[in-house]
Amino acid sequence: MQAWVQEKFGGPLTLKAVEDPTPGPGEVVLQVEAVGLNFADHLLRLGAYLARLHPPFIPGMEVVGRVGERRYAALIGQGGLAERVAVPEAALLPVPEGLSPEEAAAYPVSFLTAYLALRRAGARPGESVLVQAAAGALGTAAVQVAKALGLKVVAAASRPEKLALPERLGADLTAPYEELPERVKALGGVDLVLEVRGKAIEESLTLLKPKGRLVYIGAAEGEVVPIPPLRLMRKNLAVVGFWLAPLMGERPLVEEALGFLLPRLGKELKPVVGRVFPFAEAEAAFQALLDRSHTGKIVVRL
Ligand SMILES: NC(=O)c1ccc[n+]([C@@H]2O[C@H](COP(=O)([O-])OP(=O)(O)OC[C@H]3O[C@@H](n4cnc5c(N)ncnc54)[C@H](OP(=O)(O)O)[C@@H]3O)[C@@H](O)[C@H]2O)c1
Repeated sequence: MQAWVQEKFGGPLTLKAVEDPTPGPGEVVLQVEAVGLNFADHLLRLGAYLARLHPPFIPGMEVVGRVGERRYAALIGQGGLAERVAVPEAALLPVPEGLSPEEAAAYPVSFLTAYLALRRAGARPGESVLVQAAAGALGTAAVQVAKALGLKVVAAASRPEKLALPERLGADLTAPYEELPERVKALGGVDLVLEVRGKAIEESLTLLKPKGRLVYIGAAEGEVVPIPPLRLMRKNLAVVGFWLAPLMGERPLVEEALGFLLPRLGKELKPVVGRVFPFAEAEAAFQALLDRSHTGKIVVRL
């Protein structure tokens, strides 16, 4: 079968003929239809992700495909950018009715992260949340899930032209990053921040109300200076880390998240698909993820 292979960290992808996957005990082979690209796939290719793979490997952690006539989504550590991939049966996720393969590829990572990160923050109806990178894959999911949970949403992005999308999805207030401090201070602060920029964490802490909580989900703009604990004491703030991958092993937690998400997906929660690239253009799909002008989820279609 054909697969895109990462031969060395930081290098290009190579399209190669590789052996078909052989399913181990408890595994099935998925005929891949679509791959959702994540910022984490980019970090994995650089060798800069929390989980480190050793090249050569096939990137692609979020796939949609068929086993016989049935369509599934799956979160896997690697292997998605191929015609077929072996997946543990336990990692298969249902595809809500009415979602196209592209839409289905835009739901697992982003919507599970949005729900579980808000849960980790102890979000309560009526509270306010700041969603950064709000036009991106996680951002568009977080805006919608937060609204469905009864939160007020402040959506922010690097460029003003990216803000129409989160506004359409229900954000109560939008702002480009440079106007954020002024706009949020006028509100009296926010209760929660979903931090995905990293470098902004110092500023984000100033935007929190007393007893506010910041969930550290990502550092797309780069890692930060250490946070002085006194900063947290002064306003009784909490900073909690969030990483979806290990939480996927906690069945009751995942069941709870799916119980909330699946009946709503395709209805009030709509996975936002950005650009769709053919399999032959996987490297261009990564470039689109990095040029920071995309909205929604970038998907590679087989
Ligand atoms: N911890 C977890 O389990 C978990 C799960 C899912 C996602 N994440 C994190 O959430 C963030 C969003 O991930 P995603 O996969 O959904 O991607 P995405 O939001 O579709 O794209 C990344 C977004 O990050 C912003 N960004 C900031 N600096 C960037 C840079 N140097 N290059 C590219 N984009 C940059 C961009 O929005 P602006 O231009 O508007 O800033 C861009 O839209 C990432 O930090 C990712 O690591 C973490």
